[in-house]
Amino acid sequence: MSALLEIVDVDLAYDTPRGRRAIVHDLSLALARGHIGCLLGASGCGKSTVLRAVAGFEPVRRGEILLDGRVLSRPGSQVVPEKRRIGMMFQDYALFPHLTVAGNVGFGLRRSDRAARLARVAELLEMVGLAGAGDSYPHELSGGQQQRVALARALAPSPALLLLDEPFSNLDVDTRENLAFEVRDVLRSTGQSAILVTHNQAEAFAIADRVGMMTGGRIAHWETPDALRARLAAQAGEPRWLPPASSGSSRGASSDRSDRGGGGDGDADGVHRDDAARRRRA
Ligand SMILES: Nc1ncnc2c1ncn2[C@@H]1O[C@H](COP(=O)(O)OP(=O)(O)O)[C@@H](O)[C@H]1O
Ligand SMILES: [Mg+2]
Repeated sequence: MSALLEIVDVDLAYDTPRGRRAIVHDLSLALARGHIGCLLGASGCGKSTVLRAVAGFEPVRRGEILLDGRVLSRPGSQVVPEKRRIGMMFQDYALFPHLTVAGNVGFGLRRSDRAARLARVAELLEMVGLAGAGDSYPHELSGGQQQRVALARALAPSPALLLLDEPFSNLDVDTRENLAFEVRDVLRSTGQSAILVTHNQAEAFAIADRVGMMTGGRIAHWETPDALRARLAAQAGEPRWLPPASSGSSRGASSDRSDRGGGGDGDADGVHRDDAARRRRA
């Protein structure tokens, strides 16, 4: 499967009054079309910085970011955010309070003709389980409903890639679990490629086809949730008596496979790619 998003040997940094502050080092990952990738890491490790770079709001200091084979970012050269075909969704909903639900969802479609816009808005509201809520205002909705509206709004212009920055963080525990699965189902049903960042391991396991754990501005592996789970178990010294999970995509991996180890394919892929990248630079 060809990669949709490729992040190759990227360094990210902020210029501060006290000089340049390095945040992300040597980041490489590839996201296949239709897959959901997840960056998992503690607060402050640089997850949002990575998303901002992919969206075009931060320059790369080294390396390249490509979408569909086209270079979006390299040092000194950047495609502007509005030309990237990338949508974003944040933890704070960021809905326009003075617009109705339909107005919010249709916001990115203002250049479409009215009939097409209304049809697309209706289709999206149906998809996120809010058919009939088009005339409501954001403050009339629960947090979970507002996040569904935010998802519909982000999907409306059919972005090539959707970036989700801790989209469930502001929700109560029950809502966040349900919504995580709902969002995954919506993304999968439309074949939407996405990158989610979160500090919540359960969310990453619930949603992702590939996960990278970020520490110190780096990711060491970019692997299937099964592979990550097995590696964490091995690191914790647990016996690995479980048979390896079947190879291939982790799509649909959820509760029925959650207690299985293995997933060696994804792990090995990640390691080999990292090694290859290191060799190229050496
Ligand atoms: N505009 C900025 N200028 C300087 N430092 C920043 C800026 N934005 C974020 N940082 C710092 O970069 C680090 C990573 O931030 P961020 O990417 O937001 O982390 P995360 O999303 O993983 O919590 C943090 O230490 C943060 O304080
Ligand atoms: Mg963040």
